[in-house]
Formats: sequence, structure tokens, C-alpha cells
Amino acid sequence: MSWWQETVCYELYPRAFADSDGDGTGDLAGATARLDHIAELGADAVWITPFYPSPLADGGYDIADHTGVAPDLGTTEDFDRLIARAHDLGLKLIVDLVPNHTSDRHPWFQDALAAAPGSAARGRYLFRPGRGASGELPPNDWQSAFGGPAWTRVADGEWYCHLHAPEQPDLNWRDGHVRSAFTDVLRYWLDRGVDGFRVDVAHALFKAEGLPDAGPGQHQDPLRNHLMPYYDQEELHPLYREWRAVLDTHPAPPGSVPPQDRLMVAESAVFDPARLARYIRPGEMNQAFNFAFLEAAWDPQELRRVIDTSLSAPGGGSVTWLLSSHDAVRPVTRLGSAGRARAAALLMLALPGSAYLYQGEELGLPQAFVPDDRIRDPLWERSGHTDRGRDGSRVPLPWSGDHPPYGFTAAAPERTWLPQPDGWGPYTVLAQAQDPDSTLALYRAALRLRRAHPAPDPTAAPRWYSAPGDPHLAFGRGALVCVVNLGTRPLTWSTTGVPGRPVLASGPLDGDTLPPDTALWLLDTPDPQGPEGEHDGRIH
Ligand code: GLC
Repeated sequence: MSWWQETVCYELYPRAFADSDGDGTGDLAGATARLDHIAELGADAVWITPFYPSPLADGGYDIADHTGVAPDLGTTEDFDRLIARAHDLGLKLIVDLVPNHTSDRHPWFQDALAAAPGSAARGRYLFRPGRGASGELPPNDWQSAFGGPAWTRVADGEWYCHLHAPEQPDLNWRDGHVRSAFTDVLRYWLDRGVDGFRVDVAHALFKAEGLPDAGPGQHQDPLRNHLMPYYDQEELHPLYREWRAVLDTHPAPPGSVPPQDRLMVAESAVFDPARLARYIRPGEMNQAFNFAFLEAAWDPQELRRVIDTSLSAPGGGSVTWLLSSHDAVRPVTRLGSAGRARAAALLMLALPGSAYLYQGEELGLPQAFVPDDRIRDPLWERSGHTDRGRDGSRVPLPWSGDHPPYGFTAAAPERTWLPQPDGWGPYTVLAQAQDPDSTLALYRAALRLRRAHPAPDPTAAPRWYSAPGDPHLAFGRGALVCVVNLGTRPLTWSTTGVPGRPVLASGPLDGDTLPPDTALWLLDTPDPQGPEGEHDGRIH
């Protein structure tokens, strides 16, 4: 079994994690200094989102140099120190690979703009003549994920494709130069000691030949994403096999995992489980993010269906679970209450497979309100000010104190990368570390128990004690047993047939009844006094 099959991976968004130099923006040295928070939490790995040079048209996912470090975040030596510290703490570290597009400031795109239509420089991107009498209409009907057409016209009349912001031109993955340059990017970060990669927009690199129209209704039914001409094309898979071969064979520097243990996880907006499973066939990716779980409603039938389908899909890797990310609304806000978010965390962490946590989730942060004049997300402008975008889950973490900047930076609060709300004193790491009932204490206890009781087979379905129509979910994975009351009435958990003794609850219990929106963990081990005994967790 490989480490990643049961890993708890913590997503670190560097500009909002911790600032070391007092400029108000989180940086690599700040992250290094605070990595012990992640180790103490009990995570096994860190995924750090882009820290590469970028004009920040899309939070750093518009990259101008794939092997550099953004000056506001530090230097290559700072990255080396970050990875060394992670490895010293026993944490694996994976980085983002963003192959679908570059920044419009990338030298390749600048060359392409300066070059003539039909040139090799333009061939690295998707430049096309327009439609209409004088080419005044975009080449096809594709829509950007951020709103508006996926095409922008340049001075000489050609159009280029961008599935995201216009500052993120899409690469042409049938270009040999692009292909070999990205293999070099993989080798570069492997040489620096990374343990794997999260592959951004892994479903979109290839577009159907001829760039046909997508037709009406695009983006409306995610289950049909695989039918889009710009998603889920067959040519992706030989590319991922090529990358896997690089990961499997490129020498590993001291401190990093052996080549065959390296992780490649796909961010893939492919919702049909059978299609998604194709990304994690042996010899390709290890895992793909399970967005169906992240987007599932707080409903026992829906969650049961998503869990069953996720675990029954074929594929070589293990299933992932996630409740949040830098792109999603914080679970406290999305699910409707702090109590539900806590119960959802125990549900997720008891499932077999890997869990991805996003910074601040362990603090139970709600979605923050970011005032209009501070919004950075391109969605705001692209949607004509109807979608505030994702900044509310990207505000800097509160570490200590009662007022912004809550120990995040030495800068004045109005200079933080995004503004932090007032009233976050109770959410700080320091405050929660001292409170045994805090969300941080709950996550720490859960991760300790989870590590002590790994799933015997992280790819196998859990043992179900609840039936598909029940208002609660009850299941076991190895010795760990979980009951979640998703109904509106209290549940007498002892009548649900679950074995074991209670060790951790997401909220106060009332005797042997579990209030609505509450989860309970039990341990089904023969020796209650043994090292895995009662003191692992906390029962309210
Ligand atoms: C991924 C990232 C998201 C970004 C997009 C374009 O979905 O998670 O933040 O905007 O790719 O790179």
C-alpha cells in the first residue's frame, strides 16, 4: 500500500497562510515557519497551490514561469527550505502543475503575439481566424468557465482560446515543444524533492480536432461534461502515461519518496464516475478529486449514493474525499451551519481513501465577505458583478489575537492580501488550541484516531449499518465506525446496530441519542484498555 492511498493532504494557499516579511501577503518563509501547525494537526501531506511568478489575474493560476518562485513569495532557496522542513516534520509535499494555460505574460505568449499568424510561436497556443464576413465573430461558441466567450481577438484579427480568463491563454497540447517543455517542468520540481503533483484542469488540455461548437447547454449539466469538445479527450491518457513514466523513473533526491511512490492527483471536472475512473487507471494518475462529494447536498440519500458510486467505480487508485478547496464556498456556509460542517468532517474522515483538507477548514472558518473594491477573483468582473467569486474562502488565516490581522502578518490590517473580517478572534489557531471543544481540537482528535486505525483496504467499500433510505448514515472501515444523523429528529445510535464504544463526537451527545446534524465515532476493537483506548478522542 502506498502512503497516498490513505493520506490526509492539507491544501496550503500560500498568499493567505502566513506572512514572514510584513508586506501583508503570505509567503514561503511564513509557510515554513508555520508548517508545524499542519504536522500537529495530524495531516500526512501538504499540497501547495501555485507560488510561481504570476501577474495574479487568477490567484497565481496564470503562470509566467513554471520553474520560478514569485518574488512576493520568496526565492527558490525559500522553496528548498520549505520542502526540507516539510520532510523533517514527516510531511510529504506536492505542488501544482498548471499545464492547460499560461499567463499572457509568459514569454511564449509574448512571442506568439509578436509573431505572424501560422507561425511556430502561435502554434503553441490555440490561435484561429474568426467567423463572420471579416472574422469579427469568435471561431466557435465555447464559453469561458469564468463567463463570456472563451476567445479574445488580437490586433492582427486572429483570436486565441482561453477556457478561463483572457490573461490565461490555452496551450496547444499537440505541439511537441509544449509537451517536452512540461516534461522538463516535472523533472525540475522532482529534482527539488517534491513528492508529487496536483494537475490543474486535467480534463481540458486537449480540444477536439477542428474545434467544433459545443452547442447550446454547455456547462449546464456537469454529468455530461465528458461530451464537450474541450473536455475529456482521449489524447489526455497517453500524455498522463508519459508523465507517470517520468515520475516512476526520475531519480529521487534524499528526503523525497521513492519514484514509484510519487503522487499525481487530477483536478478533473469529469462527473461521470466511469469516465473519471479512466484518469486513475494503472499507469496514469493515482487519484482524482471527488467533486461529486464536495458538491453533495446535506442529504443522507444523496451522500450515500455519492459514496457508493465513488467507491464502486473501477480504477487503480484510491478514492478522494474533500469538503472544501480554494475554489469552493467554505463548508460552514455551504452546508448551513458550523454543526453540520463538523459532522461532515467526521463523515469524510471515516471513509476509506484519502481526504483533502483546505486551510481554515480545521478552524471552522465561515465564508468571509470581501467588499467590492477588494475583490481579486476574475469571476467578479467576468460575470458583470453578479458572482463575487472565490475570495471569501481565500482570506488570510487567523493565527492569534482578537483583531485583524490576527497574527497573520506584521503589516497593518488594511494591507493584508485580502481583508479579514472583524470578530474572528474565537477562530484563531491559538484560541482553538486551548479549547477542547473547538473545531481544531475535533480535527486533531479525528486525525489521531484515523491514523491509529487505518482502513485495512483503502479501496474497499465501508461496511454499511444503515440502509439507503435511512435518515442517518452508519458505516465502519476497519475498527473505526461512524454514525451521522442527517435527519431532523434525535437518533438513538445504540439501535442502529453499530458496534464499538464511542470515542469522538462532532457535538454534544444526549445520553445515547445523537442530535440532528451530529456525527459520532466508535471504536470496534477488542481491547478497550489498550493503546487504542478511550483517551484517543473526546466525547462531549
Ligand atoms: C483550477 C484552479 C482554479 C483556477 C483554474 C484555472 O480550477 O483550482 O483556482 O482558477 O484552475 O487555472
